[in-house]
Amino acid sequence: MQQEELFKQLVSHCKEYGFIYPSSEIYDGLGGVYDYGPMGVELKNNLREYWWKAMVQLHENIVGIDSAIFMHPKIWKASGHVDAFNDPLIDNKDSKKRYRADQLIEGEIDRLEAKIEKEVEKARKRFENFDEALFRSTNPRVLEWAKRAEEISQRLANALKANDMAALKALIDELEIADPESGSRNWTEVRQFNLMFSTQLSNIAGEEGKLYLRPETAQGIFVNFLNVLKTSRQKVPFGIAQTGKAFRNEIVARQFIFRMREFEQMEMQFFVRPGTEMEWYEYWKNRRMAWHRAVTPAAQLRFKDHDNLAHYANAAVDIQYEFPFGFKELEGIHSRTDFDLGSHQALSGRKLQYFDPELNEHYVPYVVETSVGLDRMFLAILSTGYTEETVPDAQGEDSTRVVLRIPPPLAPVKCAVLPLVRNKEELVGKAREIFDRLKFHFQCQYDEKDAIGRRYRRQDAVGTPYCITIDFQTLQDDTVTLRERDSMQQERIPVAQVVNIVREKTDMVRLLERL
Ligand code: GAP
Repeated sequence: MQQEELFKQLVSHCKEYGFIYPSSEIYDGLGGVYDYGPMGVELKNNLREYWWKAMVQLHENIVGIDSAIFMHPKIWKASGHVDAFNDPLIDNKDSKKRYRADQLIEGEIDRLEAKIEKEVEKARKRFENFDEALFRSTNPRVLEWAKRAEEISQRLANALKANDMAALKALIDELEIADPESGSRNWTEVRQFNLMFSTQLSNIAGEEGKLYLRPETAQGIFVNFLNVLKTSRQKVPFGIAQTGKAFRNEIVARQFIFRMREFEQMEMQFFVRPGTEMEWYEYWKNRRMAWHRAVTPAAQLRFKDHDNLAHYANAAVDIQYEFPFGFKELEGIHSRTDFDLGSHQALSGRKLQYFDPELNEHYVPYVVETSVGLDRMFLAILSTGYTEETVPDAQGEDSTRVVLRIPPPLAPVKCAVLPLVRNKEELVGKAREIFDRLKFHFQCQYDEKDAIGRRYRRQDAVGTPYCITIDFQTLQDDTVTLRERDSMQQERIPVAQVVNIVREKTDMVRLLERL
């Protein structure tokens, strides 16, 4: 199936099975905002727990906080967000549609890269013993497109770095980029658009009372640096972690939950001695990649260095995941220098320093940040896990199934308890009794409606790793069948062993031990 088609199926699957709904749907929805349903909230909680435990529980030198979304407006002045948290915006005068100028240009680069990939695939089919590296480095067409893509990429990076909106517009004109919807090339000039949402305090009028919804959780960590230092007995190097909502007035919110206006981040700021930041940067790059690889195939992950560094960074890399619409940023790892603490120190007048007993000196620590979007992580896990497959030896509507191959510790429901039939009181009573015992250990579901095959399919579709079926033999020997989601293998096990077997496979500890 084409990736685009697969993505469409995934989006509708998310709605049908209670993972994600469009926000405010009965009022025709609200762009770039989504709600998580009963299955979605469980998966999201599990992902958050996996991150929290990997960062806070496994590292003695990382502690957590939960800072407020509203913060003093000066924080966003100090952080640079008031002046520089902008995206270049362009309007099409005919269609009245609004776009990000940099994304329109990136679309051209993607188009050239797609042409290269197509050419490589064509050649692969044509030649036996195909040498891809040789082909890429010698084929004149591939070389021409690669050179063109590199040139455009460089000019885009330069224009963004220099804040040169006229250069972006010139590039759009020169590349003859048309409105993807209407085909019109009738563009306005490019201008900067600040992405922060603002609101107003009730008791202070004007600019003084203007509040922002935080566009990142990181600043809540920086402004609590001293509090945590004084109350947690941590010494540099140490980290502060938090998860929580962030808000960005994205010009184009698209690709489902990939780019939203309200989303959740999982961020950690690691405070280090100046001069050691590049060692820690490498350390966190490796640690974070290991975290992703424990739940996602390595081939779908890669590092991508930033061409255009943010105002606060001296080094930055993305961990990209291969979404159905291509490799895109999943997590950012940034060496933020002393920019944030230094700016808050300057604007607040409070010393944000650490006394290093080994050096016998005070300094503003440098910071290495890891920042991953919880919603993007959610989409990555579902994109890898979503599989449509034919079932060997099955017939009719049972011959195909959709299965979410989610790593078992992340699955929303760990175990479903199913009486073989529902019109036999003893079976239902026994199934209920088993369910009532299991629910203390795991998120379980009890289901007696429809034929057993259909119930298995329902559980496959939400990624439940185990189904337990209670049948007539159960009443005689206290055994049940345990069906495993991916292999669909069934085995008979004593009721007394169910908890241990399910725990063995679904415990978060299994993931954490792999890190
Ligand atoms: N504190 C650094 C920071 O916020 P970022 O690269 O802008 O860096 C970090 O964001 C992560 O947050 C991204 O890698 C992405 O996973 C997630 N993210 C950013 N904007 C998002 C959006 N509009 N919708 C969903 N996730 C987003």
